[in-house]
Amino acid sequence: MIIPTASLGHDGPQLPRLGLGLAALGRPGYINLGHENDFAEGYVIEAMERRTHRMLDMAYASGMRYFDVARSYGRAEQFMQSWLEVNQPDDVYVGSKWGYTYTADWQVEAERHEVKEHSLTKLNQQWAESKVLLPYLKLYQIHSATLESGVLDNEAVLERLGELKASGLKIGLSLSGVHQYDTLARAMLIRWEGAYLFDVVQVTYNILEPSMGNILQQAVDSGMGVIVKEALANGRLTMRNHDPAFAKTKETLTQIARAHQCGMDAVALAFVLAQPWANMVLSGAAVETHLEANLAAARIVLTGDEMEQLAQFALTTEQYWQDRSRLAWN
Ligand SMILES: NC(=O)c1ccc[n+]([C@@H]2O[C@H](COP(=O)([O-])OP(=O)(O)OC[C@H]3O[C@@H](n4cnc5c(N)ncnc54)[C@H](OP(=O)(O)O)[C@@H]3O)[C@@H](O)[C@H]2O)c1
Repeated sequence: MIIPTASLGHDGPQLPRLGLGLAALGRPGYINLGHENDFAEGYVIEAMERRTHRMLDMAYASGMRYFDVARSYGRAEQFMQSWLEVNQPDDVYVGSKWGYTYTADWQVEAERHEVKEHSLTKLNQQWAESKVLLPYLKLYQIHSATLESGVLDNEAVLERLGELKASGLKIGLSLSGVHQYDTLARAMLIRWEGAYLFDVVQVTYNILEPSMGNILQQAVDSGMGVIVKEALANGRLTMRNHDPAFAKTKETLTQIARAHQCGMDAVALAFVLAQPWANMVLSGAAVETHLEANLAAARIVLTGDEMEQLAQFALTTEQYWQDRSRLAWN
């Protein structure tokens, strides 16, 4: 499989544009649609590690080179690390995130799955844990930065991120929620030693929530790299979505998929890959069949007419994030 490549930022690495996110692989519970069906082998740690390794093997063999983890994805960093130790690839680029602590104690249901803390103490504590992934770990992102958390005004945190950048690491932030735009606009004002502090932004963009397009083009024009997450809207842009309100979108996606001899998930991913600023698009697949179906996006070129048809299904940003907040951990 040949995945087209792009540079992740002006002075970033050249990478295949599809990467794999480990949010659903590193812990028993997640909010993705149908997550409960993915772990036939159960939630024994060793079985989940083997599953993650199989997914990484397949992703790597298919040409993927970017892998996305976070301190709060249960044991995702640990599973990533054990795979790297065995395989020792010389061309893998790992991005991780700090700012949330995993608190579900390996349970599917928990009172709280993750706790957010964007302080200097948390950054230092989690960096000490994440850095075992060096030298593969090349990007460290604030996990779901918001204006309210104050992290973009926290001089001590910004200074520490600058130090990490000086050590050769790329610095990023991931965004979530209705205020993705304002948060990125603020982040793009933060300079460090004459350049942007943030090298990379990780953002939600998909057929249902395409509101960030313009500012992401600006970000790329000014040298940042863009990683798209939730390109399938946490599984809502797949056959698993049986919500009657999704029926028309599903019908159109299915028709287009038939024309390209792929699944609707590949069409939804191809819609994102068609955006010129989308340097990297993450698959969140937790099973091989889904990863294989997602990878078909790399060979699909949607027509202008198909792009227009799909663009009609955008929700308002408020509606999109309201729907997302109703997704249950499963
Ligand atoms: N704030 C943040 O920083 C943040 C937030 C969210 C995500 N992320 C990153 O982005 C990555 C991707 O996000 P995401 O998991 O929400 O991705 P997504 O691609 O929007 O959704 C993944 C979901 O789609 C399902 N799926 C994929 N192909 C399918 C198919 N052919 N048929 C049926 N279902 C299919 C997957 O099912 P299976 O699981 O069963 O394969 C999974 O439930 C994460 O792993 C994480 O690295 C970051």
